[in-house]
Amino acid sequence: MSTAFQFQEWITSHSERTERALDRLLDSAQTTPHRLHEAMRYAAQGGGKRIRPLLVYAAGELGDCKESGEALDAAAVSIECIHAYSLVHDDLPCMDDDDLRRGRPTVHKAFDEATALLVGDALQTRSFEILTNTNCDAQARLKMISALAAASGSRGMAGGQAIDLESVGKKLDLPGLKQMHAMKTGALLSCAVELGGIAVSLNPSQMVNLQNYSKSLGLAFQIVDDVLDATADSQTLGKTAGKDAAANKPTYVTLMGLDYAQKQAKELQEMAIASLDGFGAPAQALKDLALLVVNRGK
Ligand code: IPE
Ligand code: IPE
Ligand code: MG
Ligand code: MG
Ligand code: MG
Repeated sequence: MSTAFQFQEWITSHSERTERALDRLLDSAQTTPHRLHEAMRYAAQGGGKRIRPLLVYAAGELGDCKESGEALDAAAVSIECIHAYSLVHDDLPCMDDDDLRRGRPTVHKAFDEATALLVGDALQTRSFEILTNTNCDAQARLKMISALAAASGSRGMAGGQAIDLESVGKKLDLPGLKQMHAMKTGALLSCAVELGGIAVSLNPSQMVNLQNYSKSLGLAFQIVDDVLDATADSQTLGKTAGKDAAANKPTYVTLMGLDYAQKQAKELQEMAIASLDGFGAPAQALKDLALLVVNRGK
């Protein structure tokens, strides 16, 4: 008889695994130049929900995750480094101009702006270096590098951030808002799931089901981020609440209202979970993560 899946235990053990892998794969703060490496660690360690690494590991559960443990660790760290870099740059005065991130001063406040810029640059390249050096099938490694590059760049996260900045003070229509969210946030979340699937060699039809899951989840994630920005306080969020309205950003809440946004997030959560129907019990971690993402802050 198989034992019931314990999500809380799974989260704890995989969060700890993420912290260990980050510690191992990032350069030590003693590496020259010290200040840059210290700031990179400050940006990547010490906080964050680690949703993207958890998605990598959860997708890995659909295959032989023991056999592919090293590739999964590399994927988890590389996606978190890209995410951490995106946050450091997102907080800069020329972007969202935020002082608080993960309950601490933002990198440009704790260090300085030039260092924050370089932290982003260096976390991004370290991320690809980690994937490139992973000991796994060369074809899989190439697929992972290509997927991460596409998700991070001008057709993914960076492109979404450009639309976000262009849209200040403007009214996007719903398709425009969805596209911005899919790019600035959805792309990296989808990529996390994809990297996990590649690492454990899932077949093309399994990858399509995973893609359907992560598309819904990615949009739900940013809707919830928009909702929390409007409803939670800075202490709970670990970042400045009410920023979107103050900066006149189009969000799900400003465009569609709070009720619609919350309903939409729930609907997307159900769609994400339904996409996993064919996987059976090994998909439980992915399903529970979808519930966690949409219900966080409640
Ligand atoms: C915040 O991401 C930025 C968005 C893409 C909405 P997270 O909510 O995952 O931030 P951390 O990693 O937990 O700090
Ligand atoms: C940022 O979206 C998405 C990124 C690519 C970093 P937000 O600007 O809404 O993220 P927060 O609310 O500052 O974390
Ligand atoms: Mg932003
Ligand atoms: Mg921001
Ligand atoms: Mg936000």
